[in-house]
Amino acid sequence: MKVLIVGSGGREHCLAWKISQSPLLKELFSAPGNAGTQFLGKNIDIKPSEIEKLADFSQKQNIDLTIVGPELPLVLGLVDEFRKRGLNIIGPDKQCAQLEASKVFAKELMHQMNIPTAEFEVFSDVKKAKEYINSQNKPLVIKADGLAAGKGVIVAENKNQALEGVKEIMENKKFGSAGDKIIIEEKLSGQEASILALTDGETIIPLLPSQDHKQAFDQDKGPNTGGMGAYAPAFVINRQTFKEVKEKILKPAIEGLKKKGCVYKGVLYAGLMLTEKGPYVLEFNVRFGDPETQAVLPLLRSNLLDIFLKISQNKLGQAEINWRPGFCVSVVLASGGYPGKYEKGKEITGIENAEKIQGVKVFYAGAKTEGRKIITSGGRVLNVSAAAETLKQAKEKAYQAVGLINFENMHFRRDIADKALKEGA
Ligand code: AMP
Ligand code: GLY
Repeated sequence: MKVLIVGSGGREHCLAWKISQSPLLKELFSAPGNAGTQFLGKNIDIKPSEIEKLADFSQKQNIDLTIVGPELPLVLGLVDEFRKRGLNIIGPDKQCAQLEASKVFAKELMHQMNIPTAEFEVFSDVKKAKEYINSQNKPLVIKADGLAAGKGVIVAENKNQALEGVKEIMENKKFGSAGDKIIIEEKLSGQEASILALTDGETIIPLLPSQDHKQAFDQDKGPNTGGMGAYAPAFVINRQTFKEVKEKILKPAIEGLKKKGCVYKGVLYAGLMLTEKGPYVLEFNVRFGDPETQAVLPLLRSNLLDIFLKISQNKLGQAEINWRPGFCVSVVLASGGYPGKYEKGKEITGIENAEKIQGVKVFYAGAKTEGRKIITSGGRVLNVSAAAETLKQAKEKAYQAVGLINFENMHFRRDIADKALKEGA
């Protein structure tokens, strides 16, 4: 098969790596890809947002299957364009992608389908939003409706912070039109976890649960990032919770979309808060998580390309999904300054040595080649994933590998998986 992967992050390198292990694969293309994907296939100079160009390329090259990493092309209608041209692609169409692109759409769907989520109100009027905040005596969370690169959420510690959040989003338009509407919701407490599920619109198969670490620094300090590391499986989600997530969250979400005329094919990602009352949805994403994917897929024993093929043929029920025993820890190595301003172009050393450690795989994200060197080209630069029998060993191996890699101003969290280790996983 000829396969195209859209995207350029660690998640896409990981998908490319896993797909490359399939005997079904003949040729792999990545658009635009990165320093990691270029060793597994051909990088094509087309951006994920260039819908027409991607469709033209697939047509010309007779691509058998396209897999999409990031949300933007999905929200822009990449799947709709491919389907219009009779091209095979995995991912939700534009309407289904609203589940991630509009928090109002997602919350309303959850409300209609009785999916557990924080109580909320929607506002498009600044004055009314402020009045509401002043009338409440509980901690609140303010969310911009649209896409804001993971930064459109303010977990307010007091009324002033909530009011300031409304001002930033609605008046100062910090996220542009993504802030035309906002959600104000109750603050939940508990541990967070992610479940990525595969679906062909009928069958739903949740993958191993994982836990991301969103804040920039140890002990969940500092600003929110795209994610600084993850581990899987996350035992904060026990068997009972896992079942509940499938029955009370994933199934009704797919059903609710179907009622709106959307057939969802691809990956549905539920970002969860595990509250005293059970799992609540913080957000839905319509794609694989990054860095969760880099912790989950190294544990997948089955043929991922065959699984994707089955999704595209509406036969996911026939797919074989087996996991290796053990755990995987994935640590993000970021550029100094990330998620704020950072410098690029720093030479990266030590990757080869790191990968000599058994069970270790380094996924490239914001990294590119320059001559024979590998240099930094983004905020999140590498994901160092390590699989081992126990979570403790996986963590030790991951950090042993991290210790061998270097670039100027490299920063990373030292506590990935610590919460679970403290709880005795
Ligand atoms: P979201 O993009 O909606 O997942 O929000 C980003 C982050 O904000 C989440 O990972 C949580 O850490 C936090 N968050 C979002 N909603 C809530 C909530 N209702 N209560 C507490 N924390 C929240
Ligand atoms: N790790 C968070 C995300 O992929 O949205």
